[in-house]
Amino acid sequence: MAKKFKTKITEMLGIEHPILSGGMQWLSRSELVAAVANAGGIGFITAESFETAEDLREDIRKTRDLTDNPFGVNLSMVPEFGRPERTLKFCDVVCEEGLKVVETAGRNPEALMPTLKQGGVKVIHKLTSVRHALSAQRLGVDAVTMIGFGSGGHIGNDNVASFILLPKAVAALDIPVIAGGGICNGKGFLAALAMGAEAVLMGTAFLMTKECPLHDNIKNRLVETKETDTALLLTTINNPIRCIKNKLAEECLMIEEQGASFEEIIKTVAGGRGQIAYDSGDPDAAPIACGQIAGLIDNIKSVKEVIDDIISEAEELLGRLNRLAVA
Ligand SMILES: Cc1cc2nc3c(=O)[nH]c(=O)nc-3n(C[C@H](O)[C@H](O)[C@H](O)COP(=O)(O)O)c2cc1C
Repeated sequence: MAKKFKTKITEMLGIEHPILSGGMQWLSRSELVAAVANAGGIGFITAESFETAEDLREDIRKTRDLTDNPFGVNLSMVPEFGRPERTLKFCDVVCEEGLKVVETAGRNPEALMPTLKQGGVKVIHKLTSVRHALSAQRLGVDAVTMIGFGSGGHIGNDNVASFILLPKAVAALDIPVIAGGGICNGKGFLAALAMGAEAVLMGTAFLMTKECPLHDNIKNRLVETKETDTALLLTTINNPIRCIKNKLAEECLMIEEQGASFEEIIKTVAGGRGQIAYDSGDPDAAPIACGQIAGLIDNIKSVKEVIDDIISEAEELLGRLNRLAVA
């Protein structure tokens, strides 16, 4: 029988495999989140994809119709876009719907903690520095996801690679640490566990799956994307985000270099452009968040294939490593 990897995170969340699908605005909705849950991992419905808390509630219920396994909600609080009172309403819905875990990101979750703790919800905070992880631990979060420099989406300002960030965080913290970013296969999974992670979190690897509600043109573009084909946008407004180097990214980088104002930069990248491009399939019309790991992914699999392949490759590798260690 195939082996399982039992960790503090599988125990805490009641899941089969220590594999999380990080929130992805517009994309982490019922279809994808339920597929991850049914494959034994856990996914997070991204609240920021919904205008109102009632829309989020509807998607939670839809997801529940598609899976009996646990899933959570991602509460992204990117300072430029987040509306705090709306995020608090999302928290209320999470509690009312009886969900047991949220992923928080973008800024310190202090304002949300009383509601979530009272609702018995575990909080996994996603961040990029050990310093902020220590503050999150003091606030009472249950686990942290440490995002390394090659990750897709918002990567913070610390620019530390996972190979350094992870062991540092594991040594400094008492709560479980999850390895985020730059992982898509058994090699990355096992390396993360070897460095002390209790689970891995992936975005790009799930973006490039059959179940992800993303136009095929963009999936095909992602398959062609090499590890050197991403760029960091929004560094000049102190909020770097790793995206594919497409036409829109080049335009944004150009105006940033020319000293564009905050408003001009935001106008170029925001306003629901992502959702429109994801649906219509124009791979140059929006900033498409994507990690360097896209360079290692050369086909579109189902979510179950992604997860099963990670676990079986990790088992095989364990056998190989054991054989390498001679007396
Ligand atoms: C298309 C896309 C959209 C994302 N949107 C969000 C988001 O709305 N909120 C969030 O917390 N993280 C977001 N992320 C980050 C992921 O949850 C995750 O932290 C990251 O993708 C991990 O790095 P990887 O892509 O190398 O696996 C996004 C990532 C991608 C690729």
